[in-house]
Amino acid sequence: MTTTQQPYGSDAFGFSTEQVHAGEVIDAQFGARITPIYLTAGFLFDSFDHAEARFAGDDGGLVYTRYANPSNTAVEEKLTALERGVDSLLVASGQAAITVALLGILQAGDHFLSTPSLYEGSKTLFRENFARLGIEVEFVDDPHDLTEWKRRVRPNTRAIYGETIPNPKNDLIDIDLIAGFAHEEGLPFVIDSTASTPYLIRPIEHGAHIVVHSASKFLTGHGASLAGVIVDGGTFDWGRYPEKFPQFSTPAGGPGGPGGAGGSGPGGRTLVERFGNRAYLEYTRTVIAGRFGPVLSPLNAFLLQQGLETLSLRVERHCRNALAVATWLENQPEVLSVDYPGLASNPSHPIAVKHYPRGTGSVFGFTLAGGRDAARTVIDALELFSRMSHMGDVRSLVLHPGSTSHAHLSEEQRLLLGIGPGLVRLSIGIEDEQDLLDDLQHAFTALRAAARPATIGELARV
Ligand SMILES: Cc1ncc(COP(=O)(O)O)c(C=O)c1O
Repeated sequence: MTTTQQPYGSDAFGFSTEQVHAGEVIDAQFGARITPIYLTAGFLFDSFDHAEARFAGDDGGLVYTRYANPSNTAVEEKLTALERGVDSLLVASGQAAITVALLGILQAGDHFLSTPSLYEGSKTLFRENFARLGIEVEFVDDPHDLTEWKRRVRPNTRAIYGETIPNPKNDLIDIDLIAGFAHEEGLPFVIDSTASTPYLIRPIEHGAHIVVHSASKFLTGHGASLAGVIVDGGTFDWGRYPEKFPQFSTPAGGPGGPGGAGGSGPGGRTLVERFGNRAYLEYTRTVIAGRFGPVLSPLNAFLLQQGLETLSLRVERHCRNALAVATWLENQPEVLSVDYPGLASNPSHPIAVKHYPRGTGSVFGFTLAGGRDAARTVIDALELFSRMSHMGDVRSLVLHPGSTSHAHLSEEQRLLLGIGPGLVRLSIGIEDEQDLLDDLQHAFTALRAAARPATIGELARV
């Protein structure tokens, strides 16, 4: 097995070339062109001494798939290159990526700040599950107000969290602004870039330190598997804050390899001494994902690899279709608002222009004046759109957040998030634009028919 040794991740090649070639492994025995699926739990040791060396982490070789597997490594290298990071880790889902990424930083007694508009699953994870671990989240009210961010920092604040294109409201955050604040405060900035993908923005280039994705969405694209990824920018100086992040600067004894004390090494060296700017990802891989265990199957890594090879082509098409649909919706009298930052009328448009010159993704909501009944009529009348809780798929999808993903909230809480009874969320796929518009036209025709009074002829037939 040989890995291609090109300078990927360095601007020597364009995005589409990297998405195809970065990280690819050519199988030396048979010459298989596609990186194979290494479905194996573990890897052979040549001898007693070899096993000991592997466990000590001395030769960097493979031990057990919970720590590393060549199918996963190939995809990790591709994503590291695409995001301009220094290392990556694949895990079982986007939720696993968020959990593992933050548990690599936080411990009981810590506090972290988050932007207010997030995927609802992340919010409940933070509010409920993290609270049970003794980790407190605090959501800022206005992510554009630096004085508020500063006011909320506490002595035990350890991280900043946000989403590039927040799901489902698309109320974009200014990544440069929040990253500048995180740098000033000496706090790592973790950002979920699921809805944007590295094709639309590379948050590390804007000062974010760690990027997470639900790779189940655009990165995979085909909707056939879940996956998550954590990309380490290698830009946060963990060694500078030993009191805040002792896990990286405390010398620990014991074996340093996969089963051991997290790579500290028998010589009692710290992770920072041992791994430099990859210390965070090593700790996260070995101690957090390696022990809690939510790693990605090599089979699903392969499925992700297949999707990544066409990412730029798909996202380009997703964005083009989404803008066409958003523009069409904006012109319908039944529509009160369309939450798509690509529209000049959207309050986030200035940030869209600054951060997202290639487009602002394809997941957005629109609000029908007729409320829940109108939403039901439109959603049930759509034929090409799949009624599904998912996004970033090649297929167009539709969901009513008020009665599904956000049903556990009170109406007042939903309204505070901008999720009224008439809000319909779309994830626009890569189908032909005109077919999507025709399907929506058909659904709006059904809406108009439901709204108008029955004619005398219709009443006579009842
Ligand atoms: C922005 C965002 N992050 C994370 C997740 C969770 O991803 P997964 O479903 O792969 O666990 C989702 C799921 O919709 C999401 O929209």
